[in-house]
Amino acid sequence: MQLTVITILLSLGMEKDNIEWFAIKKPREEGKIERAEVGGKKLCIVLLNGKLYATSSRCPHAGADLSLGWCEGEKLVCSYHRHRFDLQTGKGDEGQGNYIDVFPVKEENSRWYVGIKKSWWKRLLTK
Ligand code: FES
Repeated sequence: MQLTVITILLSLGMEKDNIEWFAIKKPREEGKIERAEVGGKKLCIVLLNGKLYATSSRCPHAGADLSLGWCEGEKLVCSYHRHRFDLQTGKGDEGQGNYIDVFPVKEENSRWYVGIKKSWWKRLLTK
């Protein structure tokens, strides 16, 4: 019994297809931050140089809404205290010691999707 439970738990962590894809609107304006709420997450969606980015919208510094910020180059800037985050990696600028989550984005049949990792419980219940 214990071995079965451990096997199920390990397989949930190793499952390759544990991402759920949600349709999002592609922003019309380059460099403008759009808000989206999908899969229980609040996101920032940014179109920059023809590439689409999706990040978490909560600033890890003091919780501000990053969608109220702006883009500088390939960085997302928080409007509260100006912490900056790389749109590709989510990494905060040197000295900040923080990061934001970045999510995969894909285009299929002219529609855009963002990938959100399924929760542990959802993976367990849909096994
Ligand atoms: S809340 Fe974002 S930098 Fe302080």
